[in-house]
Amino acid sequence: VPGGRLLNLDDYEAAAAASLPPEAFGFYAGGADDEISLRDNRAAFARRRLRPRVLVDVSGTTTGTTVLGDRLELPVLVAPVAFQRLAHPDGELAVARAARAAGTVMCLSTNATAAPAEVAPIAGRCWFQSYVFRDAGRTRALVLTVDSPRRGHRERDLRQPPRMPEGMTLHAHGGARTPVEAHESVSASLTWADVESLAAESRLPIVLKGILTAEDAAIACRHDVAAVIVSNHGGRQLDGVRATLDALPEVAEAVGGRIEILLDGGVRRGTDVLKAIALGARAVLIGRPLVWGLAVDGEHGAAHVLELLREELLLSLMLLGCTSPDGVSADHIDAGRAVGHGLP
Ligand SMILES: Cc1cc2nc3c(=O)[nH]c(=O)nc-3n(C[C@H](O)[C@H](O)[C@H](O)COP(=O)(O)O)c2cc1C
Repeated sequence: VPGGRLLNLDDYEAAAAASLPPEAFGFYAGGADDEISLRDNRAAFARRRLRPRVLVDVSGTTTGTTVLGDRLELPVLVAPVAFQRLAHPDGELAVARAARAAGTVMCLSTNATAAPAEVAPIAGRCWFQSYVFRDAGRTRALVLTVDSPRRGHRERDLRQPPRMPEGMTLHAHGGARTPVEAHESVSASLTWADVESLAAESRLPIVLKGILTAEDAAIACRHDVAAVIVSNHGGRQLDGVRATLDALPEVAEAVGGRIEILLDGGVRRGTDVLKAIALGARAVLIGRPLVWGLAVDGEHGAAHVLELLREELLLSLMLLGCTSPDGVSADHIDAGRAVGHGLP
């Protein structure tokens, strides 16, 4: 990084690439097949243009919002990301502390390298991501990931398999030591009927993660879920699916305000957060950037990543003429129009 200063989330990625073992960096950075959807997530943000309003008193601007009725300091949540101890020995515990300091939600992965009982008391607000296991009795989900009946085909992992340090275990899977082993117990027979019984059994709100179409969003609204996350798993599952920002408008239209919509994939700037909110998201999640922060400087690095994004969001809200995320509307973006090809 020129001058050694970490000014933005991409600087953190570059610094993490220089410090992590290559197979660990590849595991975190990689996507499925040709990584088309991975790149397109970011390009989709670059294709959109904002419509700022002027002469608005923005002196009291806040980044605070609510998600599922919970007050958050910023509309950016921590996405569930597996195997965080590969990046830093403090792993999920450090990210949970960073999330709490930022006043946001930590969503813990099923494939975490720390136990929910360790992480939950540290995180201010904790969501738990789950897959439905073949042994259905183990599932008590809040965030149900629905885009992974099988693990995506990730060639970086095949060329350079990530190696788990001795003694690192996955709490949800007795004995699993690699991402591939961890996925072996995930059910490929999950359907809407399972979502229905889960919603009926659970006292927790259910969030479906991995919705990319109006059709599925409409079905979700009929199944007692509290929210959907427009997500393509950070480009790690089906390659060639649309960028999440491109899928968002039709999902928002199908949902019609009945449930909350979150989005993840390629969010790296405060202006990306604005664009997602303008097209219908209540909030966004970030995955890889927190791992980069963790790899560079543990809890401090993860906290700095969230602080950089909060500061960028505050500035861009003010320049857009909005005093809070709630004030950002479809009028603040060229809806239906995307320009050029986005980033290379
Ligand atoms: C290394 C890595 C591990 C992940 N593990 C999980 C997981 O265990 N469960 C899950 O639902 N999503 C998982 N995801 C997907 C993220 O929750 C999220 O959808 C994605 O990372 C968002 O894109 P971004 O990294 O561009 O911000 C993982 C993503 C990465 C990069």
